[in-house]
Amino acid sequence: MAIASSSSSIRPLNHSSLFPKCPSLSHHSQFRPPPPFSPPSFRSTVRATSAVVLERESITQPQDTTEVELFACPVCFEPLVRKGPSGFNLPAIYRSGFKCKKCNKTYSSKNIYIDLTVTAGTKDYTEYQPARTELFRSPLVSFFYERGWRQNFNRSGFPGPDEEFKMAQEYFEPAEGGVLVDVSCGSGLFSRKFAKSGTYSKVVALDFSENMLRQCYDFIENDDSILTINLALVRADVSRLPFTSGSIDAVHAGAALHCWPSPSNAVAEINRILRSGGVFVGTTFLRASPSTPEILRPFRQRIQGNYNYFTKEEIEDLCTTCGLINYSSKVQQSFIMFSAQKP
Ligand SMILES: C[S@@+](CC[C@H](N)C(=O)[O-])C[C@H]1O[C@@H](n2cnc3c(N)ncnc32)[C@H](O)[C@@H]1O
Repeated sequence: MAIASSSSSIRPLNHSSLFPKCPSLSHHSQFRPPPPFSPPSFRSTVRATSAVVLERESITQPQDTTEVELFACPVCFEPLVRKGPSGFNLPAIYRSGFKCKKCNKTYSSKNIYIDLTVTAGTKDYTEYQPARTELFRSPLVSFFYERGWRQNFNRSGFPGPDEEFKMAQEYFEPAEGGVLVDVSCGSGLFSRKFAKSGTYSKVVALDFSENMLRQCYDFIENDDSILTINLALVRADVSRLPFTSGSIDAVHAGAALHCWPSPSNAVAEINRILRSGGVFVGTTFLRASPSTPEILRPFRQRIQGNYNYFTKEEIEDLCTTCGLINYSSKVQQSFIMFSAQKP
């Protein structure tokens, strides 16, 4: 399918297509959690070298190593120290524990994913995100996302996962062999494709929704070819990405910009983690109408509905204002794929 250039006409977004009627669940979710896993507990000892040594008190595996990680603390962005089997794959990562030696905070696997949100480990404090984020935390929405909900996007011009993946891979050519983070991966539709492609040294499937990550694990579990390859599942907020500055080669964000609580904080954060020359590729639904008149701006959410839709000019402005360069985009009806680079 040929995607028109940015000058192509944009049809107004069909909002109802974003909320397909979910058929009632005739059976329980097929989700089967992996065997229970007890995260290792840490005892930290400050040695003469000031290095923090992490000692795992639970079952120790012969190949256990302590190494500085790709992941960083979401509070202070210091690289985490990892204790556990080496390797960047689900079984190794989930038998590991992570610790920030600056904050003295530990992060452990929740059986399926590592929780690297700032609120990981809170006991009494709870926090709610806007409805457009909370919606996807629902088990029902997560279950149906790849089972009908996502297919509905084609009506608004999305060319479908295979074509979107092909288009993204072209933009990502400068990042080949590097680390790719699939931000707001949902149930991992594209993370699985990126991991299977063999193009990247590491793929991180990252989302805020625990249930999307569970679905993601479910799909991976049923595919032996990706269960033990270079893929990790991480829970994190796009506005607080758990990576050090300049450490990531590629960031993908499929159909996500309109769901983020603050797209500007998110794109600034994506710019922060990208290395020089690193590539950001995103897709979203375009808003056909021009900016909301000043007087109506306080009511913009009511007028637009739950999501944050932008015009293609606004998306370019957002990327460049956040410091990205070489912006380009492809548009088909309400679908836009855009790409920009870290200078
Ligand atoms: C429409 S889905 C897109 C899934 C997938 N990337 C795709 O292309 O189909 C939007 C995703 O954004 C995630 N999301 C919403 N707010 C987020 C946040 N603050 N941080 C990270 N992910 C978020 C949701 O959990 C959801 O999985």
